[in-house]
Amino acid sequence: MTTTRIGSLSVDEKRDLLANLIRKKMQRWSKGETPSALIDDHRKQFPALDGKSYFNYGAHGTLPRPAMNAVLEAWEYMQKWGPFSTEVNDWIQQEVSKTIACFGTLLGVMSETMALTENVTAGCNIVLWGLDWQQGDHILISDCENPGILAAIQQVARRFRLHVSSFRVEASENGTIESIARGLRSNTRLVVISHVLWNTGQVLPLSKIAELCRTNRIAQGRTLLLVDGAQSVGVLPLKLAQSGADFYAFTSHKWLCGPEGVGGLFVAPESLEFVQPTFVGWRSVKIDESDGSFSWQPGAHRFHVSTSAYPLLAGVRRAIGIHDEFAPIEKRYERIVELSRYTWERLQEVGIECLQHSPPQTGLIFLRSKSNPHQVVRYLETQNCYTRSMYDPECVRLSLHYFTTRNEVDLLVDLLQNHEQRGRHIGPAKILGEIRNENSYAHQTNA
Ligand SMILES: Cc1ncc(COP(=O)(O)O)c(C=O)c1O
Repeated sequence: MTTTRIGSLSVDEKRDLLANLIRKKMQRWSKGETPSALIDDHRKQFPALDGKSYFNYGAHGTLPRPAMNAVLEAWEYMQKWGPFSTEVNDWIQQEVSKTIACFGTLLGVMSETMALTENVTAGCNIVLWGLDWQQGDHILISDCENPGILAAIQQVARRFRLHVSSFRVEASENGTIESIARGLRSNTRLVVISHVLWNTGQVLPLSKIAELCRTNRIAQGRTLLLVDGAQSVGVLPLKLAQSGADFYAFTSHKWLCGPEGVGGLFVAPESLEFVQPTFVGWRSVKIDESDGSFSWQPGAHRFHVSTSAYPLLAGVRRAIGIHDEFAPIEKRYERIVELSRYTWERLQEVGIECLQHSPPQTGLIFLRSKSNPHQVVRYLETQNCYTRSMYDPECVRLSLHYFTTRNEVDLLVDLLQNHEQRGRHIGPAKILGEIRNENSYAHQTNA
């Protein structure tokens, strides 16, 4: 039997080393030691955090230095031994397989059900364009979907003459389930939801929604469920194989803090037959060299198309490894929720309105300030504090990761408080002027 070696360690030795490292950190943590020393050390791995308070993980995560190095090393490897050679081609195959396996472990799914994509939107588009739509089919979406996904749905609907309607997300789980049940029709081919809503931070009850879809009988069998995982992957512990979702799209560049340009799409085995690849290339197929005929790559791998930026894959895996070395995802999620509660309470203590009426369920917090949110975000940025504005609802969004610190939160709260007071002292005429100036360059991106 051959043993795969990574550097001077075998895979098994490396796994043991990692398990040991986590065990030691968890022992310190569970002994009641505040994790702040661990976190300060951990944060040093993220160059983007140097001298900054960062609250934009839901838009774009901070790439750790070792992940950056892994990308550079991979690039150098390709140039040294290829870029096109049998050696590098074998290496690319392994990079792809290892990354798929890594996503599979993270999300609790088999490798064959996972396709590598570029981002969330690319994954959603694979499903949206791949169903065999019939004119008049119905798509049901939540009323909180991201504009990029809405734009794709709108274009598919225009092209195939589909009906699209939305259901209202309610404050309670039961309310939302009833709302979806009312929205489902006998020709609803697809339901599209985000697992965590980008504009309220609510976590939708995925399994219950999946159950509703699976029991909604239609001419083609049943309603399918496409899930946008932009704000959930890297935050929530997930076991997608058991979730009942048919399709689940995500990206590495947000909460996983991987490089931009790599994402994934989970396709449940029993749902594969419903989606045809729209874009096809040499990576989608197996070629029979005897007669030149094609057959699909197994499972979701048929959605791979052609040459990609392979060196990024090493970066994604390293970024995921860095989080895992710190603590298991359950513990990290606990800490995100704990920090969010702290932030939510602190904001209210100083009289800043939060849009959430109860402690946040994830790292997303929405606050309303007395001045224009674009202006607040700009002001905070002058103080090296990074947040984002939203237009619907009009507010400032904060996103907190497990390695956000209370110091960062306290600084942010102080800055917000100063800004509110400054606004009061300057008076409405001056503020209106500032807002007008602000609006001349204000724009909203959809991250
Ligand atoms: C809920 C949601 N869906 C989709 C996107 C788009 O993600 P991506 O840039 O990976 O396509 C975002 C963020 O930008 C988002 O928050």
